[in-house]
Amino acid sequence: MAPVSRKNPAPPSTAKRPRTSPGGRTGTSTSGPAARRAPRAARRRTHGGDPSTPNTAVVVTGGGSGIGQATARLLAETGRAVAVWDRDGAAARRVAQSCSDEYGVPAVGIKVDVTKTTTLKAAVKRSRTEVGPIGGLVHAAGIGGPMPVTFIDDDAWDQVLQVNLRAGATLTRALHESLLEANPGSAIVYVSSIEAFVGNAFLPAYCASKAGLLGLTRATCALLGPDGIRVNSVCPGAVDTPLIAPLLEMPGARENLISHTPLGRLAQPADIASVVCFLLSDDAAYITGTSLVVDGGMTAVGSV
Ligand SMILES: NC(=O)c1ccc[n+]([C@@H]2O[C@H](COP(=O)([O-])OP(=O)(O)OC[C@H]3O[C@@H](n4cnc5c(N)ncnc54)[C@H](O)[C@@H]3O)[C@@H](O)[C@H]2O)c1
Repeated sequence: MAPVSRKNPAPPSTAKRPRTSPGGRTGTSTSGPAARRAPRAARRRTHGGDPSTPNTAVVVTGGGSGIGQATARLLAETGRAVAVWDRDGAAARRVAQSCSDEYGVPAVGIKVDVTKTTTLKAAVKRSRTEVGPIGGLVHAAGIGGPMPVTFIDDDAWDQVLQVNLRAGATLTRALHESLLEANPGSAIVYVSSIEAFVGNAFLPAYCASKAGLLGLTRATCALLGPDGIRVNSVCPGAVDTPLIAPLLEMPGARENLISHTPLGRLAQPADIASVVCFLLSDDAAYITGTSLVVDGGMTAVGSV
């Protein structure tokens, strides 16, 4: 997927993106009426006849930093309104401001702790008022909570599971009505991790929460698929964000990670954001209930 040019951002909100023929991507012929009809027909099955990329707003949790921030900004760059939610309200507002200043889209930054379930309804209401119909959710808020299972206390376990996993469910519940109303094209992306697949002795709660998100993805895909709402996860490898800054500051850790990554570098937040934006777009109109590993090849070669 080609990155979106920052020099030539798409016009905001009402702009229709040029369609890309699946035939063009696979190298098969794009000539003839059947080939011309195919992309529209494929989209109709999922999106009820509207082949355009949705121009509804997207809620991005954890949008004040790292992957969430990069995702909010890339969505804005492609013309979508954003509601940036973060427990760090100042960071959320700063990111939202940059989205509206630089890309001219409606944007709002709201202080939201995603574990405070009873506050989510009000945050949804305010977001809808400020940025319009919400047709997307990206749950990127996350914490690590390093502690081996033989030492971890109940509170630390609960906190990691509540932020990383339970909030995925409670956010989906809080936004369900909005996503239905904003259809066609509504979609959800949960940010999981390669540690959903591989064990890390020091991150049992994190591993469990990220594996749980994949189960939640499948269950929610089954529920919302008939309504045309798609649900997927991304599983990043090592991404250069504040979350893993303490790890990267340990002597040799950064070099060690890079040497175990076939692509020879750590991911930047934008590497993950572009995949999240793809999964939210109509280019992914037939993808639901699955996860995409975005790790520079780390798990493919058993490096983790
Ligand atoms: N950085 C990595 O190497 C990596 C790898 C795999 C997966 N991930 C996942 O990506 C997601 C984003 O992480 P990141 O690396 O961008 O980290 P980050 O620390 O830069 O950003 C996380 C954001 O989530 C917010 N947040 C934390 N708890 C919250 C809560 N209760 N309510 C609302 N906001 C809250 C933080 O304030 C922060 O702004 C996380 O789910 C993380 O597990 C990160």
